[in-house]
Amino acid sequence: MKEGLFPYIFDVEEFITGSVLGGSAVKRLSAMQAYFSDKDAVQKILADGDPILYEYWEKENTASSRDISFGLTKVFPGKVGPEFYMTRGHYHGDDSVEVYYTLSGHGRLLLMNREGQVMDYEMQKGVVNYIPKDWAHRTVNIGNEPLIFIWFYPSVTVHDYETIEKYGFATVVSTENGFKVKSDVSRG
Ligand code: PA5
Ligand code: MN
Repeated sequence: MKEGLFPYIFDVEEFITGSVLGGSAVKRLSAMQAYFSDKDAVQKILADGDPILYEYWEKENTASSRDISFGLTKVFPGKVGPEFYMTRGHYHGDDSVEVYYTLSGHGRLLLMNREGQVMDYEMQKGVVNYIPKDWAHRTVNIGNEPLIFIWFYPSVTVHDYETIEKYGFATVVSTENGFKVKSDVSRG
């Protein structure tokens, strides 16, 4: 890939591995304990190891205030007690929006506004999800394969994780019939 100014040209396979993107992050269960409700299940899993729940890669572009950053997230399949592996979730602390495009896997996109209203959307190959301003967003893998999606947002975006850490967020739990969104979020 050429450094510096656009255009970037990516092969989609390279993109899926994250190898063309700059920064990356790995989120393991040990760092995500607070986000899951079944603390016994957390401890049982950690006694045997520390699984990666998700990874993401990012190309942060800051050339101008109108720039767009983009990247790719891979949420692995698995559960912690009844809850599926998921991302932390966050608000954008400004009026930035975001677009997700799912490449593979099967997930749910959970959205929550500041009144605690929750909405959930299907994520599967070819689906584009638009995340409006002021809606916190979390992705949950409800399938058996990695959930892989790419995303685009204004580079000026401020990420607010504290509100979710403090008040919680909806999750997806497994049931006899498959799964359901558990959205009785405490608002503190
Ligand atoms: O910007 C986004 O919404 C995504 O790129 C997420 O940051 C990514 O999926 C990881 O989730 P989180 O930032 O909630 O840990
Ligand atoms: Mn976001």
